[in-house]
Amino acid sequence: MTEQIGLFGDLPAPEAAALAPETWDQIPTSASVPIPPGTYADLDQLASHCKQCQRCDLARGRTNVVVSRGSAAASVMIIGEGPGQSEDEQGLPFVGKSGQLLEKILASVRLDTENDVYICNVVKCRPPGNRAPTSGEIAACVPYLKEQVRLVDPKIILLTGGTALKGLLGITQGITKVRGNWMEWEGRHCMAIFHPAYLLRNPSKEKGKPKWLMWQDIQAIRKKLDELST
Ligand code: URA
Repeated sequence: MTEQIGLFGDLPAPEAAALAPETWDQIPTSASVPIPPGTYADLDQLASHCKQCQRCDLARGRTNVVVSRGSAAASVMIIGEGPGQSEDEQGLPFVGKSGQLLEKILASVRLDTENDVYICNVVKCRPPGNRAPTSGEIAACVPYLKEQVRLVDPKIILLTGGTALKGLLGITQGITKVRGNWMEWEGRHCMAIFHPAYLLRNPSKEKGKPKWLMWQDIQAIRKKLDELST
């Protein structure tokens, strides 16, 4: 194991990443430095890099870097697009109006956001005016997300909206077509679901409408989790 100096003091160097110490220090400052699987020994190391990250221009406008909330031991990981204003202010994902709706959806199938899920985003800094992150911003940030997946090791990944679907799985098909179907990715069960912000804009609970479809999806997710836990 290479001795790690600088950023993490006495922490051991990541086992799998064959990065020279000087390259390691460059990860958060240059998007051209890759973040190979196994780079981080734990989520604290990862968060430390994220908090000083300058890999893309979103760093300039942020108040806080938004890494995660919930439980790192959770079986379910929920991935959103990127922080909005409330998230940027508080440094936590899904704490604004979308987050409140997400909490209700999860609670409807007895999932608690503190203990049962780990929540994060494709990009960790707020895009200006809440625009969607660009491909370059996603490419700079998604290796952190892949390390979060590896370290949390969830059984189920829920991708809320098209950016999460494209960011992690590279799927560009419309969310309306893909949602509700189980997909396998790196041995994990993944499902794309509507983004809560989309549900806020489409409040009808009528059969076949987005909210009704979400209710079908969250029940299927609960069922899968129960099956995997027995
Ligand atoms: N929307 C997202 O996709 N993520 C958040 O954290 C908040 C709103």
